[in-house]
Order: sequence, then structure tokens, then C-alpha cells
Amino acid sequence: MSEIEENAEIGPVQDDAGIKACRARADGLVRQMNLEEKVSFVSTYFPILSEKAKQYGMVPSSGYNPGLARLGIPELRINDASLGVSNLLNARPGDTATALPSALATGATFDPEIAFAGGAMIGSEARAKRFNVMLAGGINLTRDPWAGRNFEYIGEDPVHTGRLGGAAVAGVQSNNIASTVKHFVLNSQETGRMVMDARIDEGALRESDLLAFEIAIEVGRPASVMTSYNKINGEYGGEHDGLINGVLKGDWAYPGWVMSDWGATHSTCKAALAGLDQESGLELDAVLNGAVFFTDRLVEAVNAGDVSVARLDDMVSRILTGMLYSGAMDDPAPASEISVDRDLNASVAQTVAEAGAVLLRNEQSMLPLSDNLSRITVIGGHADVGVLSGGGSSQVRSHGGAPIEEQINEGDGAWFCRMTYHASPPLAAICARVPGAEVRFCSGEDAELAAKLASESDVVVVFATQWQSEARDASSLSLPGGQDELIQKVAAANSDIVVVLETGGPVLMPWLDQVRAVLLAWYPGQRGGEAIARLLFGDVSPSGRLPITFPAAEEQAPRPKPGGLAQLKARDAAKAAGDAKARIEPFAVEYIEGANVGYRWYELMGHSPLFPFGYGLSYTSFRYDNLEIVGEERPRVYLDITNTGACAGADVPQAYVRAADGEGKLTWRLAGFRRVELGAGETARVELELESRAFSVWDQEGRRWVRQPGQLPVAIGRSSVDHKLFGELTGDS
Ligand code: BGC
Repeated sequence: MSEIEENAEIGPVQDDAGIKACRARADGLVRQMNLEEKVSFVSTYFPILSEKAKQYGMVPSSGYNPGLARLGIPELRINDASLGVSNLLNARPGDTATALPSALATGATFDPEIAFAGGAMIGSEARAKRFNVMLAGGINLTRDPWAGRNFEYIGEDPVHTGRLGGAAVAGVQSNNIASTVKHFVLNSQETGRMVMDARIDEGALRESDLLAFEIAIEVGRPASVMTSYNKINGEYGGEHDGLINGVLKGDWAYPGWVMSDWGATHSTCKAALAGLDQESGLELDAVLNGAVFFTDRLVEAVNAGDVSVARLDDMVSRILTGMLYSGAMDDPAPASEISVDRDLNASVAQTVAEAGAVLLRNEQSMLPLSDNLSRITVIGGHADVGVLSGGGSSQVRSHGGAPIEEQINEGDGAWFCRMTYHASPPLAAICARVPGAEVRFCSGEDAELAAKLASESDVVVVFATQWQSEARDASSLSLPGGQDELIQKVAAANSDIVVVLETGGPVLMPWLDQVRAVLLAWYPGQRGGEAIARLLFGDVSPSGRLPITFPAAEEQAPRPKPGGLAQLKARDAAKAAGDAKARIEPFAVEYIEGANVGYRWYELMGHSPLFPFGYGLSYTSFRYDNLEIVGEERPRVYLDITNTGACAGADVPQAYVRAADGEGKLTWRLAGFRRVELGAGETARVELELESRAFSVWDQEGRRWVRQPGQLPVAIGRSSVDHKLFGELTGDS
């Protein structure tokens, strides 16, 4: 063992010097490899389709690389992990895992510690199942309310997403396994994701989605970054020299490896020279792109001098460096699967569900429900069997199995996306909470029956669902399947009605004025039913805050519908007419809002959304006092927060700074936040650390952040529009 090896830390390594030592060690290993061995590292198999699955003993999962036993380099056992250790299509029958709620629910907690705990839980289960590279860390901003994968993303604000996403990744890696952040960058919609060109001004990109990645990478130190399917300003994510070599590896000095998304590599030399280090899911590239690129073709390119040996060495060394600093290399996966504490892990999921649910409406203190109700009617949402989850590669097969798993017959995700429920029925949890009450359930299919039962009840709880999935976007923001009409009918029969939403993101609520309360549970995960019951009956006060704006009408959003629908339609028509090879024609989406994603767009356009970013009610109330703003190098604000109500609860004071973007457009921008738990009557003085890049502009020529000069207004708010305390940030910090 060399001196470097002896001194190397066993990860996760948190400091630059430690990461440098990892790189030196990785370089030493690369020096001992021949060309064939080096090339063997820079691609991964897709076990589900791989002919080599048997040869290497791969388990069906997202990816695999055999490693190099000769040098003690472990196999890469890769799996998806946005919301738990996924088990796509139940390909590993019986292999269940704990399902977290949507990433938006984690986002709604506004709490990096809760995000870390969720990641740590996922990582511990992954390690126990012998995986060591997790495809977690969805950092894309939720630019569009209808986007299919919003449930895998954290929200619309870059500081918020960066801090929470980074914490979640750090949690995963705290188990000495590697994690990605993904999808670099601007994979904001699913429609035509493999051909669409996301167009945006470079400065605006730096101040929005790239800022989210920049912060998440600083906080989480992910071993790997996954590029996006889509193009960005004309180049595929995996071939984007400016973004990979320029921004990620250049400006940010990112030390780990850059992997492609599955089936997203399109070239050998161009991709390798742009900075892509690993081609993922070889078999999918063969199917989708007609070739594989980082195997024989790469050997040829190196032999021909088109890709230098130094570049190949860098590719391999980056993979090993990431494996080293995440701890995955020195702390190998267990020899066989080990069991985990399921109850403990489920309680982590339940904490996220409870802290992330957002109380949107609560007229006349309809909630919490009383323990003394004698007759409750529960309607819809399959609340008798479970809670909904989002579809696609993130799909967890949770403990208890899938009481509902519906095959999808159309669309690009039909082969791998299923509408799946987790076995955590809210109905059972409600019954358990009020054993003395008569609790009746009806599916809601028969609206007349639902209204009749409602009219005979003290209280009605309607569960409304919207299924969202990878590979497709919502065609409308309305609740599907006549649920709006159902709610209206039931509300007409009994005004004591609570709506519980299980949606992938924002939906329209034409019935809002007719219902007393609305609780947004997102996709609430493994213990969703229990969490919902505890929230409804006040065992815990709701404290989630919206990490994404809910528009009042589709037209308020920068893009009321997904781009590329015409191209999608044309492709489907050609297919229906017998052209089996018809492909969706490339198209562009202009991100006209630029850096002003979400709430900033609404402010600039003068739109009043249905519910603003940062909004959420509680069963108690809070007051803010004594604002102090410190504008030195590490700008921060202090304030007193008092729980003025009668029960314990958590609040999220949010610090907004008023600043202009690169084009001089002035808006409030979230720069700091903190979730604070307080008992009734309790006061705490809290510190909010401000992210100065939130009120800086990116100077593209100088390649640096420039803080906006002079005094900047600061507001402490309970949402992006409800500001309670005001002050000014001074100095040039
Ligand atoms: C998704 C990625 C995922 C990968 C592997 C792709 O379709 O976009 O998020 O990690 O598949 O399953």
C-alpha cells in the first residue's frame, strides 16, 4: 500500500484536500490498468436487457459494471433511488423497500435535516440490498406545473432545491455509497424529452437551474452527476462541452464522474471530449440510438488518437475518485443482503409525509377533526386500499406490496410505468383513530351514492388523485376522471367537507370555495395513510409549505401546455397509420421566464396564483418580531418567532431579498429559510443564513457572480407574497 493509500480517509470525504487525495489514489489505480480494463469502466450495462446478466450475476436493477477484482475495485451495483430503493416492474419479485413521499413533500418540509434523514434511510436500505451507486438527487427545478416528474423534484426555487437536494444526497452517501444528482440540466418536461431542445439565456440558466445544481453539489458532494436526455441550447446534455467541461468541471471544479441518462448517449468522440465519463445503460443506447459508444468505438477512437489516453484516464479516474470519496470503494457492499429495521425506516417516511403535507384551506377551523364524530364518510382515491405513488424509474415496490398496479396502455412510458398504490390505506388509519365512529367508504364512482352518504354524515373526507409519471406530462391541470364534479356534488350535499389531495403537483380547484378544508398530501409514501389520519385529527399540526406555485388557471403558467404536443400527435398518428418506426420530430422549448422561475414569474406578470410558493396553514399561529440583518461576508438575518396559538406546531420563516436579474427585472427572491418547531406560547430566536447568489447576477464574461450593489430590501414572509417584517441588507457582501 502506498503512502497515499495509507493516509487516505475512508469516505464519505467532506473536504477538498481529502477529495484530492482520493483523486491521487484513483490515478494510481488507473496507471496499473491496460486499455481494455480502462475502457471496461466507462460504460454500464442495463441488467434488465443485458445478455451478460447471467455471466456477471447481475440482479435486475438500473445498472451494472463488473469493477476490477484484480485491483480491488468493486462492482458498480446501480439502482434508482429518487424516493426509495426502486424495484421497477417488480423485476426483483418480493424485494420491497421503504417508499418516501414525493420529493415535493420533502421540499415542502423546507428542512434539510428531514431531507438528509430521508436520503440516509434510502442509502441504508440500498447498502443492505448490496447496491452502491444510487440514482438519487433530482435537482431539476419544477418550471412547469404539469410536468410529469415534478414529484421527483424538490421545487421551483434554486436555493431551496439546492439546499434540500444536497442534504438528501449527503444522506444517501452517509452510508458510504455513491449518489448522483440529476438530470443535468433543464430536463423540465417529459414530452419529447429525448429530442427536445431547451432554449434559455446562459446567464438565466446560471441563476436558476444551474444554481440549484451548484448548491446541491456543494452541500451533497455527490460522487456522480447524470446528464439529461434533452438538448440545451442545441447540444445534448451528454455532449455539452460548455456545461460539462465548462461549468461543471471547469468553474465548479467538480471532481466526480459524469454519467449519461439511460439511452441518452449519442456519440463517442463528441461525448467523451465534451466531458461525459460513463455511458449508462448500454443496451438501451443500442435499442434507442442504434449503437453503443463507449466500448469498441472508444477503443478505436483512442487508438486513432481522436480521444487521448489522458482523457480516457481522466474518465476512469473520475469514476474511481467518486467511488472513493463517497466511501463506496473502501467500505464494500455486504456479501449478502442484510435485513433492515422496517418500522424505523417507515417512521422516517411518515415524518416526511407529516412535515411535508400542506394545509391549503381551513375555513372555520374545520380541521383538526374532533375525536367525537359519530359518522364519517370517506370517498374516493382508493382510500380503502392505499395511497397513490408516481410512476417510472423511481417506482418503489413498498412493504405490503401494491394493492393496485395498473398497466398503462399508451404513451412513451407504457412499457415501464404503472399506476401503483402503496398499501397504507387512509381509511383504516381513520377508523383506527376514531374507533367509536361509524366510518363508511364509497369509491366515488357513483356520485349520487357519494352525495347521499355525505348528506347522512357529520363530516365527509374526499380523497382526490392525479397520477403523474416519468415519460409523460399531465395533459391538463384539472383533476382527472370527473373528480371535480364529484367533489362539487358531495359539497352540495354536506358543507362539512375536507378534500385530501394526492397529486404529483399543482391542480386546479374549481370547487375550492365550496369545501371547508383542503389538505395536500402529495404522494405520501409508505405510511401515507397513517400520516394523513394524524394530520386530519390534529395529532400533528400541518407545517408543510408549498415549494411550487399553484396557478389559478393554466394560462398563468409560462407554458400552459407542454411543448412538442403537435410533434407527439404527428408521431402517434404516423404510428397508427402503420409506420412502426415513426419518431417524434425534434422541437424547441423557449424558457421565456429565464431565471424567474415560479413565484418570480407570477410576480413579474402580476398574476395572483391560487396558492403562492411558501404558503401553508397550521393549526396554530405564529408571530415574527425583532428583525436583525447582518450584511457581512456571510449575510444572515435573525428574528424572534413566537407560537401564539394553543398547540405545538412548526413554522417556516422565509427571507426574501428584492433584487434584479441579469436583465434588470426586479423580484423578491428566496435567500434563506428555516423550519422551526415550537410549543404553544414558545418563542425562539432563529438565524436564517442568506445565500448571496440569490441576490447576485451571473457575469458571463467574467465568469463570476456579482452581488447587486447597494442596499437591498429584505422581507421575512410566511410565503412569497405574505411578508411580515421588513429591513435592508447593506454592504457589498
Ligand atoms: C431516468 C433516470 C433514471 C434512469 C435509470 C431514466 O429513464 O430519466 O432518472 O435514473 O432512467 O433508471
